[in-house]
Amino acid sequence: MTELSVPESVDLAELEHLALRVARACGRLITGERPRDLGVAATKSSLTDVVTVMDQRSEQLAREKLLTERGSDGFYGEEDGRVVSASGITWVVDPIDGTVNYLYDIPSYCVSVAAVVGDPATPGAWRTVAAAVVEPVTGEAWVAHEGGGARLLTMRGDRTLSIPSQDELSLALVGTGFAYEADVRERQARVLTGVLPKVRDIRRRGSAALDLCNVADGRLDAYYEHGLHSWDFAGAGLVVTEAGGELRGLGDAAIADPYTLAGPKALTDQLDALLLEIKAD
Ligand code: IPD
Repeated sequence: MTELSVPESVDLAELEHLALRVARACGRLITGERPRDLGVAATKSSLTDVVTVMDQRSEQLAREKLLTERGSDGFYGEEDGRVVSASGITWVVDPIDGTVNYLYDIPSYCVSVAAVVGDPATPGAWRTVAAAVVEPVTGEAWVAHEGGGARLLTMRGDRTLSIPSQDELSLALVGTGFAYEADVRERQARVLTGVLPKVRDIRRRGSAALDLCNVADGRLDAYYEHGLHSWDFAGAGLVVTEAGGELRGLGDAAIADPYTLAGPKALTDQLDALLLEIKAD
């Protein structure tokens, strides 16, 4: 597909550095200026899906910084709509992933900044070529660019990520998440009752991007979720694949259409078979 090729003039390592700088700046904003009595700015799909003022400010900051440096790129954020790309690169930004954690001052939240080619609004019609996910409270950052591997940057030093070759689903620690809509949650709960007896345990951390980064760094063995948006996984999905893991949809479906599975291939294959067996689709 020609529209999915990377424009010739683009240096993917530079896009990764830019993604990291911008994600760190947004991270400083959301932690440094987090109001004690965080105001609820609006609601999305239900009352529990809280969009905060800081979410919107973080996205605005990312948009300004990215489009100031690369004026002909597109932008696709969680909060404020879209700028169409003239360069072939579009920035997909989750200004705070783990919004509910952020609201409750639970430190598991992050900023995800990803450079993609193609149309991020259409499942299967785009792919990420460079990305950074920053967890501002710990200062940890996961970075990757296509063909360049994935790294975890910490205060104690950096390490190249290589997904562990765990291949036994019954021993796997599996991350998942839940949607905000009650009817989708009912279905997710039913699926969970089929998965839980077949795995070591389940974790629900509250940020899909951090779940995926944790698959890449070995803190989780695998992950599945129904109903992610492209901004939830655009950055961390590349971290998984560049660490040697697999990111896929259920059966033959595209990623996030509606399922997303991640982990070493042996585990995503077993998870896929299990989800099909319990009729998760
Ligand atoms: C949510 C989180 C959560 C996942 C939901 C996402 P938000 O994103 O990543 O872990 O289960 O599917 O929508 O709303 O915190 O940006």
